[in-house]
Amino acid sequence: MAFTYFFRDMQTLEMIRDHVVPALRTRRYIHVWDAGCAMGPEPYSIAIIFRENMGGMIFRNVRIHATDIDESNLFGKIIEEGMYPREQVERIPKDIFARYFAPAEKPDHFRIAEEIRRCVSFQRHNLLTLDPVRNGFGLIVCKNVLLHFKEEERIDVIRMFHDTLAEGGFFVTEQTQKMPAELESIFEPVVSNVQLFRKVE
Ligand SMILES: C[S@@+](CC[C@H](N)C(=O)[O-])C[C@H]1O[C@@H](n2cnc3c(N)ncnc32)[C@H](O)[C@@H]1O
Repeated sequence: MAFTYFFRDMQTLEMIRDHVVPALRTRRYIHVWDAGCAMGPEPYSIAIIFRENMGGMIFRNVRIHATDIDESNLFGKIIEEGMYPREQVERIPKDIFARYFAPAEKPDHFRIAEEIRRCVSFQRHNLLTLDPVRNGFGLIVCKNVLLHFKEEERIDVIRMFHDTLAEGGFFVTEQTQKMPAELESIFEPVVSNVQLFRKVE
């Protein structure tokens, strides 16, 4: 089972809060692609960050398209249920946890608020097909996935992300991943030393 938990990468969530949400908030619809989302803590954490930083009405226009190759064919059901064991939710800041989680019927499990669950949908998808799941994304998050690909595959996947981003859309990957030199001219770094980029052409 893929390793992941809620609020795994606070630095990325803070960058989304500080740079991405303010830039996208005025758009009519905000589409986010979480590519390689595992069983849901990452897309749900992103959904919570959006909700924390915008009013409920605007948040209704946010759609998080969570995809994964999901070789075990389990993630769709887990994400739809939105119920997670204590060890996957215990790093969430206490105030946020109190606002969005309630004890579930299963002992030591917690369920995410309906408002957040509604915002996230899951689809099985293999990034190496290079088929975008839709166009016009404001943000694409692909973390701890590209490292498993060969260099040429990484370039093709990131180029596909670029094509499917809306004008001025953002792409974020993990700290240890570098933008391939071939693609440096089509993305600009938003923050130095952090892997958050904005589409420039
Ligand atoms: C280590 S997990 C990362 C989960 C999450 N992004 C995070 O950082 O917490 C890597 C995920 O990539 C998915 N994955 C691997 N190859 C993939 C592919 N070709 N297309 C889509 N997802 C893939 C795996 O199924 C797994 O869920």
